[in-house]
Amino acid sequence: MTLDGNTLVYGIFGYPVKHSKSPTFQTAAFQHLGINAVYVPFQVKPEDIEKAVESLRVLDIKGVNVTIPHKENVIPYLNEISEEVKVIKAVNTIKNIDGYLIGYNTDWYGFIEGLKEIMPDIAGKRVLVIGAGGSSRAIIYGLLNQGAGKIYLANRTIKRAENLIEDFSNFYRIVKMIIKPISLEEINRILNEVELIVNTTSVGLNEDDPEIFDYNLINSSHTVVDIIYKETKLLQKAKEKNAKYQNGYPMLIYQGAKSFEIWTGKPAPIEVMKKAIGV
Ligand code: ATR
Repeated sequence: MTLDGNTLVYGIFGYPVKHSKSPTFQTAAFQHLGINAVYVPFQVKPEDIEKAVESLRVLDIKGVNVTIPHKENVIPYLNEISEEVKVIKAVNTIKNIDGYLIGYNTDWYGFIEGLKEIMPDIAGKRVLVIGAGGSSRAIIYGLLNQGAGKIYLANRTIKRAENLIEDFSNFYRIVKMIIKPISLEEINRILNEVELIVNTTSVGLNEDDPEIFDYNLINSSHTVVDIIYKETKLLQKAKEKNAKYQNGYPMLIYQGAKSFEIWTGKPAPIEVMKKAIGV
């Protein structure tokens, strides 16, 4: 692809952003479809996020992904947010239509589409979600959207889990009947009740991180997802116990695929995107 005066610019806002794999697989997708566009990393300091959002209008950047730590902070500077953003309260995708900026969240979709590769039917399933931060909010939105039957929401700070439930119950009255807040200590006791286990915390990123619960209690009837981009101790144990398991890459690819579709209106070449980052 030759760059010229018509090349469209897309990118990602993050801090740090160097580790991001989005430029690699988004660029591969543009090239595969012959779209004259680039996708570049923008390292944006937290205090500069308002100026960075304004730069989208000034420079006519057509769209960006937004990652840590900006997902919540971009919201006040957009013209419009989509329905899921109102619930999740985080934006990971911005589309620029002649200076009019619309914020979307495709993380929930990314999680669900990735999960479907190993659990095709989520309706009615009993789930343990560990963590109550931004990623957890998107994942819970997705699980509710798919009709999950019951969700145990375990968090180190139980108050934060309770706050999430309170917040979601403003949108879906049924939430308080479906989602139950528990402490990390209570996980061992309920593990037999759930079919799906999802870790949304950063625990496991480092080799010497402790187990969040007793991983020996995992069995072959469990499906285990860790949204960290590697085979964590949790996933190694799931493998050892013959449980189905998945790391964070499918979620990453499918959230990016949805962003690509929002920007271009074209189906994303999933296999090309996966291949670009070797997953
Ligand atoms: P993200 O956007 O990735 O979800 P976040 O909003 O900062 O990040 O949320 C981090 C989550 O990981 C929280 O649920 C946090 O628990 P607290 O609410 O108690 O802080 C959880 N977390 C982070 N480090 C943890 C640790 N060492 N042990 C247990 N939970 C941890």
